[in-house]
Amino acid sequence: MRILGIESSCDETAVAVVEDGVRIRSSIVASQVSTHAIYGGVVPELASRMHLEAIDPLVDQALAQAGVGLDDIDGIAATQGPGLIGALLVGFSYAKALAWARNIPLAGVNHLEAHICSLQLLDNPPGFPFICLVVSGGHTNIYHVKGPGAFTLMGQTRDDAAGEAFDKVAKMMGLSYPGGPAIEALAKKGEPEKIKFPRSMLGKDNFDFSFSGLKSAVARHLHETPEMRPDIDDDRLAHVAAGFQMAVIDVLSTKLITAAKEKNCADIGIAGGVSANRTFVDILSERAERYKINVFSPPLSLCGDNAAMIAARGWEMIRDNQVCGLGDDVYSRVKTLNKKPFFGR
Ligand code: KG4
Ligand code: ZN
Repeated sequence: MRILGIESSCDETAVAVVEDGVRIRSSIVASQVSTHAIYGGVVPELASRMHLEAIDPLVDQALAQAGVGLDDIDGIAATQGPGLIGALLVGFSYAKALAWARNIPLAGVNHLEAHICSLQLLDNPPGFPFICLVVSGGHTNIYHVKGPGAFTLMGQTRDDAAGEAFDKVAKMMGLSYPGGPAIEALAKKGEPEKIKFPRSMLGKDNFDFSFSGLKSAVARHLHETPEMRPDIDDDRLAHVAAGFQMAVIDVLSTKLITAAKEKNCADIGIAGGVSANRTFVDILSERAERYKINVFSPPLSLCGDNAAMIAARGWEMIRDNQVCGLGDDVYSRVKTLNKKPFFGR
């Protein structure tokens, strides 16, 4: 079964063609990052307009790259939520119209479930059951993944997402948006143990996170120690980046390994934008190995938002007949997943 995947939940318009949920025939991502960077974050209205301009030519490109035509597509999968309402409406309405015109099934995909499914696209995917962290600019969720489509939420952030903390701390330090890659690069020049930032909720008997205290601690540090100001000393700023990054990695790694031990899982997967952080992947892998736990992370092209993961999850849904009715109201569907972005069965 050949699925056309469409993603438009935030600042990336993406289209992919994926066969049987695993073979990527094409996957194209049109990023809007440079447009939003000047504002220091995503401007929703701009995002919607750019999706509208990008989506149609991108579908043509993805089909051409896959060497197929619309006649060869058996189903469509589009992100239903969570995400920016206006942005989601562009991709989802486009997908619904196309499915209607071609008389093929449409799956409304949960973006977070799709990030978990990005791991199924690996040549060597994690084995069920496994623990999965979806960690991005909007979410920091730990799931127990018992089988295809069977996800249980074990914990989530109570305030900022980990990626959001990277972005906000980068902004305080005068670094570019998105902050994750900028902090990771600067941290390479610093010493992670030089400044010890707080590890929130580490001692707590649950799998929830909190990153807003850490963000404030960095702000206080920069404010209270004038010699730390960006205009004064680059080396010292690198220590702040390294210390902050290590605090995030420490909490994420500790909770993931504890969850894997509690649920008797031999595998841990990480997905979402922050899983692009190689320092995180390396430290988590090294710590997990001590408990004979394997760590799986997607290649860079599948860490951030992409449509191959949407097609992978949509393939499962269409196979299981979890499809949208042609009479379904697109706006109600998008709102539903945004009101209740988390899931647990
Ligand atoms: O999944 P994603 O592309 O979009 C959503 O938020 O859904 O994730 C974007 C987030 C941003 O907060 C960005 O700063 C973060 O992922 N990120 C990173 C790295 N690359 C991207 N965070 C830490 N280290 C990185 N190398
Ligand atoms: Zn995402």
